[in-house]
Amino acid sequence: MATTTNFFTYLAIIFFSMSTSGFSQLTPDFYDDVCPQALATIQLMVDAAIVQEPRMGASLVRLHFHDCFVNGCDGSILLDDTPTMTGEKTAGPNNNSVRGFDVIDQIKTAVNVACLGNVVSCADILAVAARDSIVALGGTSYDVLLGRRDATTASMADANSDIPRPTQDLPALVANFQSHGLAPEDLVVLAGAHTLGFARCVVFRSRIYNETSTIDPGFASDLQAQCPITGDDDALSPLDDTPAVVDTDYYQGLLRAKGLLHSDQQLFQGDGSDTDSLVQYYSDNPSSFWEDFGAAMIKMGNLSPLTGSDGEIREDCRVVNQD
Ligand code: HEM
Ligand SMILES: *[C@@H]1O[C@H](CO)[C@@H](O)[C@H](O)[C@H]1NC(C)=O
Ligand SMILES: *[C@@H]1O[C@H](CO)[C@@H](O)[C@H](O)[C@H]1NC(C)=O
Repeated sequence: MATTTNFFTYLAIIFFSMSTSGFSQLTPDFYDDVCPQALATIQLMVDAAIVQEPRMGASLVRLHFHDCFVNGCDGSILLDDTPTMTGEKTAGPNNNSVRGFDVIDQIKTAVNVACLGNVVSCADILAVAARDSIVALGGTSYDVLLGRRDATTASMADANSDIPRPTQDLPALVANFQSHGLAPEDLVVLAGAHTLGFARCVVFRSRIYNETSTIDPGFASDLQAQCPITGDDDALSPLDDTPAVVDTDYYQGLLRAKGLLHSDQQLFQGDGSDTDSLVQYYSDNPSSFWEDFGAAMIKMGNLSPLTGSDGEIREDCRVVNQD
């Protein structure tokens, strides 16, 4: 009897997780028939963009994250504001911060040409471009699941409430990820995306001028030279010491109190917590990091996609189709 109950509970859990994450509806071969050139075209465009500017890889990875965390991976972050809709681009975590929109436009144009029509969604382009960026910068590939469709609306308010903040403590970061169906383990491994890219002075200033903050003093004084106590809000510092290489230096930095953001250092506080152990583990297991990161990116990419006849395939990633 107990076994039967457990069996049905188990089925219910599987069904529930499939219906909320939607992974049953996305497939790696979604474009194989309608546009066999789609993925190769995206990769070519991503590689070219990264050759031109290595940081673009980081920016494309972040775009996919900020898309997925606001009402699912539905391309909503790409919509420009209109007189009747204030979208996500100027929300606090995005304004003057997320970038790569022009590259996404170029990819979309190239894909529409290669596919002889508008068959690849902007949401899928973001997911594939993130993966291709990771690969171009030295990470390990993973199969992106495809078949997402694009939202017809976007919300600044939702972007403000749903994207985690660099000032948050560990419990708030864990709760934020939990609200997206992601575990603390996913938080630690996905934060490893900070192996790439840069942050602006304005988001880490309070940390480097705060004598009580848990930051290596030499690291803090080096950063002060780049990031004055007032002004220069947009001056950039790398999130780890190799911002154009996918490696485990991000985690090694955390072990030495050299996390750039407060939220980064929250993952390792030297108190032997579970997140401490994971940071320690990834710091000296690059192959585990790559494998777990790919799995977590797939999980993040499954957040509430629009599928079937929901949403649309946008012709221009910045605007809802006019028809
Ligand atoms: C855990 C919570 C997270 C917080 C609080 C956070 C916060 C931030 C902040 C404040 C910046 C710098 C923004 C700026 O200077 O304007 C940044 C950059 C970045 N974040 Fe995160 N992030 C988090 C998780 C993630 C995740 C899960 C990913 C991807 C999977 C990611 C990818 C990136 C990348 C690649 C950059 C560099 C972007 C560039 O150079 O253009 N972050 N993040
Ligand atoms: C976004 O940034 C611009 C330029 O700094 C600023 O003028 C604008 O007020 C910001 N928008 C919001 C909604 O904060
Ligand atoms: C300085 O750091 C402490 C400990 O992390 C924190 O409680 C405090 O709010 C910080 N102060 C400022 C001005 O950021």
